[in-house]
Amino acid sequence: MNLIFLGPPGAGKGTQAKILEERFGYRQISTGDILRRNVREGTPLGLEAKGYMDSGALVPDDLIIRMMDAEFEHAGDVILDGFPRTVPQAQALDELLRRKRRAAVAILFDVDMNVLTDRLTGRWTHAASGRTYHERFAPPKSAGIDDVTGEPLIQRDDDKEETIRKRLAVYEEQTAPLIAYYDNPADARLVTVDALAPIDAVTKQLIDVVSGDGFSEHAPA
Ligand code: AP5
Repeated sequence: MNLIFLGPPGAGKGTQAKILEERFGYRQISTGDILRRNVREGTPLGLEAKGYMDSGALVPDDLIIRMMDAEFEHAGDVILDGFPRTVPQAQALDELLRRKRRAAVAILFDVDMNVLTDRLTGRWTHAASGRTYHERFAPPKSAGIDDVTGEPLIQRDDDKEETIRKRLAVYEEQTAPLIAYYDNPADARLVTVDALAPIDAVTKQLIDVVSGDGFSEHAPA
C-alpha cells in the first residue's frame, strides 16, 4: 500500500516519512526535496521552479506531474510527501495508480495552524538527505550539525515568516480541497492522525495505520 501524506507546511510530513522509510522500508518521494535538489544543481526544472518556491507559490501542475510520472517507474511502496497538492495533481495520481495497478491511502496530518510558524522558523535541514531537526522540538546532537554525516545544517529559504504566511494561504486555497477529494466513504481512502502530538506519538499513530494494513516493522540490524 502506498501512502499519501497530506497536511499543511510544517505538519511533520517529512519528519514522519523519514522515520517510516527507515523502519518499514518505504521509499519517500518528497516533491519539495526533488525540486530543491534540481534548484541546487541548476537543472532546467530547477531554474523554472525556483521563482515559484521562493515566493511560496506552487510549481505548475504539468511540471510536477511529469516529474512524478518518472518517479513511479521504480518498484516498491512509496510515501508521497508533498504530492498531490492540487485537484489536477490528485486526478493525475489516480490515473498513474490505475495504470500501474497500485493502491494508496491518504493520511491527513491534522494540526492547529497556530503552531506551524514556530515549527518552520525553528527547522534546520540537512540539504543532501532532506533530514530535518528543530531547535526546540527535535534538536541535533550538536547545534547546526547533522547527526548522521556531521555536515552543516541549513535553514530553508522559504522558511521566512512572510513566505510561510503565503505557503499557508496557498495550502488553504489549493491543497485543503484534497481533504474532501480523499474523504470518500465508499473508498475509505482517508485516515486522520493527530499531528499536534509529539513526534514519537505521531509515529505511533502511523504505525497503527500501516500495521493494520499488514506491514511489519524491519528487524533491527
Ligand atoms: P515542501 O518541501 O513539500 O514543503 P511543505 O509542504 O511546505 O512542507 P514542509 O517540508 O515545510 O513541512 P513538513 O510537513 O514536511 O514538516 P517537517 O516534517 O519538516 O514544498 C516546498 C515548495 O516546493 C512548495 O512551497 C512549492 O513551491 C514546491 N512544491 C513541492 N511540492 C509541490 C507540488 N506537489 N506541487 C507544486 N509545488 C510543489 O516538520 C517541520 C518542523 O517541525 C521540523 O523542524 C520538525 O523537526 C518539527 N516537527 C515535526 N513534527 C513535529 C511534532 N509532532 N511536534 C513538534 N515539532 C515537530
